[in-house]
Amino acid sequence: MRLLITQQDLGNWAANYICQKIHAFEPSSQKPFVLGLPTGGTVEGMYAHLCQLHQQGQLDFSHICTFNMDEYAGLSAENPHSYHFYMKHHLFDGINLPPSQRHILNGQAADLQAECAAYEQAIAAVGGIHLFLGGVGRNGHIAFNEPGSSFSSRTRPVTLEENTRQANARFFDGDVSQVPTHALSVGIGTVLDAKEILFLASGEAKAQAVARLALGGITPNWPITALKTHANATLLVDRAAASALPEALQTQIQHQFEDKTDPAVITL
Ligand code: GLP
Repeated sequence: MRLLITQQDLGNWAANYICQKIHAFEPSSQKPFVLGLPTGGTVEGMYAHLCQLHQQGQLDFSHICTFNMDEYAGLSAENPHSYHFYMKHHLFDGINLPPSQRHILNGQAADLQAECAAYEQAIAAVGGIHLFLGGVGRNGHIAFNEPGSSFSSRTRPVTLEENTRQANARFFDGDVSQVPTHALSVGIGTVLDAKEILFLASGEAKAQAVARLALGGITPNWPITALKTHANATLLVDRAAASALPEALQTQIQHQFEDKTDPAVITL
């Protein structure tokens, strides 16, 4: 996998990358370009830039199909803390993606297992995900696959770790008791099935997870390390998220910046 370190705006870089991928996609296949989508603070800028590209006439979403990674259990789509609400606010209201082509797990489904099984079938029915975008939890989680999740896990109901609920409490008026204890999440296996993966991490809070990815082995204790098993996976980080990398890698990154290579590339 590639670790990209940039001094540029993460969201702008990612949005332009996505735009290029969509433009390069062969439309004659009659199949849509399928995106896996994340939520969280890190990717808000990326969504703002995607909306901007659309408004500038550079990006058409009419032949795109999306699958979100996860949703809190028990929250309605109208609940402002739900990922349904987040997606409407940050992306869907600003682009021309037909509602029938948007998919988000229903955290209020009567049968959560059946909801997850149907989600996997829906992904398979469109031919799989071309580009899975994501963020990284402080503990290295991807989507809501907490440490210990199997790399072959599929979409399923999950229990959230206390530290994840605390990290996400900022989206619930700072009140951790309001953060649901459970969620529905695509599995690590679901993410790894994508043809390409692009994850983003910003800020010092993610520095340990990034360092662990760069230095440690592949282990379910750090779900982000699953990306190392994929043939076409990239993690794009800012300098703060790269700050716990060892001296030798910092020097390598610095040299690339001095050579005007930004993002700097580290192959893991
Ligand atoms: C939540 C999401 C993850 C996301 C993580 C990081 O836990 N389920 O998919 O990667 O938040 O969020 P943030 O970007 O706000 O740090």
